[in-house]
Amino acid sequence: TNAVIKDVLGGQFAVGETVSVRGWVRTRRDSKAGISFINVHDGSCFDTVQAVVPNELNNYQSEVVKLTTGCSVIITGAVAESAGKGQAFELQATDVKVVGWVEDPDTYPMAPKRHSMEYLREFAHLRPRTNISGAVTRVRHCLAQAVHRFFHERSFYWISTPIITTSDAEGAGELFRVSTLDMTNLPLTEQGKVDYKEDFFGKEAFLTVSGQLNVETYACALSKVYTFGPTFRAENSNTSRHLAEFWMIEPEVAFADLEDVAKLAEDMLKYVFKAVLEERADDMAFFAERIDKEAISRLEHVIANDFVHMDYTDAVEILQNCGKEFTYPVSWGTDLQSEHERYLAEEHVGAPVILKNYPRDIKAFYMRQNDDGKTVAALDVLAPGIGEIIGGSAREERLDLLDQRLDEMNLPKEEYSWYRDLRRYGTVPHAGFGLGFERLVAYVTGVQNIRDVIPFPRSPNNAEF
Ligand code: 4AD
Ligand code: MG
Repeated sequence: TNAVIKDVLGGQFAVGETVSVRGWVRTRRDSKAGISFINVHDGSCFDTVQAVVPNELNNYQSEVVKLTTGCSVIITGAVAESAGKGQAFELQATDVKVVGWVEDPDTYPMAPKRHSMEYLREFAHLRPRTNISGAVTRVRHCLAQAVHRFFHERSFYWISTPIITTSDAEGAGELFRVSTLDMTNLPLTEQGKVDYKEDFFGKEAFLTVSGQLNVETYACALSKVYTFGPTFRAENSNTSRHLAEFWMIEPEVAFADLEDVAKLAEDMLKYVFKAVLEERADDMAFFAERIDKEAISRLEHVIANDFVHMDYTDAVEILQNCGKEFTYPVSWGTDLQSEHERYLAEEHVGAPVILKNYPRDIKAFYMRQNDDGKTVAALDVLAPGIGEIIGGSAREERLDLLDQRLDEMNLPKEEYSWYRDLRRYGTVPHAGFGLGFERLVAYVTGVQNIRDVIPFPRSPNNAEF
């Protein structure tokens, strides 16, 4: 089989057993005694396996001593206990087959020295083979599996919501248009506007910014559901926490209120943190050693403690009185910037914090109005080092109040008619939230830039591969 390095290092093979490792050379070292030590990785785990290659092999001089970083090889040999530090097992090679050479080792940009993350993003063939990319990729996989398992164990159903849509789920206008029209010869209406009736869907269509509105229809039928898929936002924010294409996990629960989903968010985060500590101890040890020394202890702390809840109104007071100079001043009614979110999570609480009951006027049209007439039943989970990782709310299930919000925000009611129908036929209180998957991966690994926790980042001026 492929990916046997994990099994070799994990002691799954008996000493003396012959195995073939297929992978890529990370390093080669030759001893004076005529033995080469070749470290090979196959991505199955963080570590490389060391193959000890004796000079008796036929191709020792012609090939083995010419191997460089990145060459692909199949090395066959007997599993042996290793005398070297850091690994329990190694291979006593009896055959080394070179599958693919590296054309020009001097230009293969993976020298043992470390490259910047920005630099690595320019090389599609190289980036996935680095230690950090391998570790991120395995952690990402583990987190995604744990998310599905968490919801499955709690009897949630996974709903695939559409990627192409005609509605703006957040009402924020950050949409990528999807069209088959000829941009150089657009059909026009009598008023001189682009005539989307002529377009593929007979209407202006977009990539989705959130599956929430769609998944609400299923929550109001199957009770507990969630989405997990790609979402797209044309925010022109060139920051370390925004992507134009990111994945979102959006649970939605019928007959639930804000407190119910706050608890759900806490349980879910603890569940996936536990999973990653148990299942990816190798990669997490790497992050703790090389990227962020608190990568493991931070998660352990979150798992062991109750989340702190705080009202937006109290948070504003804390920010105003903390004595810290912020770039953006805070007053009741303003949206919090990442510097404020990070202060609250990092310095005030020292752990993730759930902020609740935001001013109505800075939040989306669908959020449920509180009785005070000024706030909505919204929540954000703010995490140290990153700020908002989750945004959610109770949904306005009362048609008259929903319509009032749509009008106030100048959103066309007819575009949301199917959504409004949910409030007309057996409406029910319901609530949910959205977790940005890449922000979760960044939080877990300590990787600073969100672009480095997704295989193919999409950001302004960047969609090449
Ligand atoms: O707070 P947001 O905009 O909420 C929604 O989209 C709701 N419909 C969710 C719901 O209630 N079902 O986005 C949710 C989360 C944010 O907290 C953040 O983690 C992430 O999505 N997010 C982004 N992640 C990366 N790049 C971007 N441009 C992001 N925008 C939001
Ligand atoms: Mg938000």
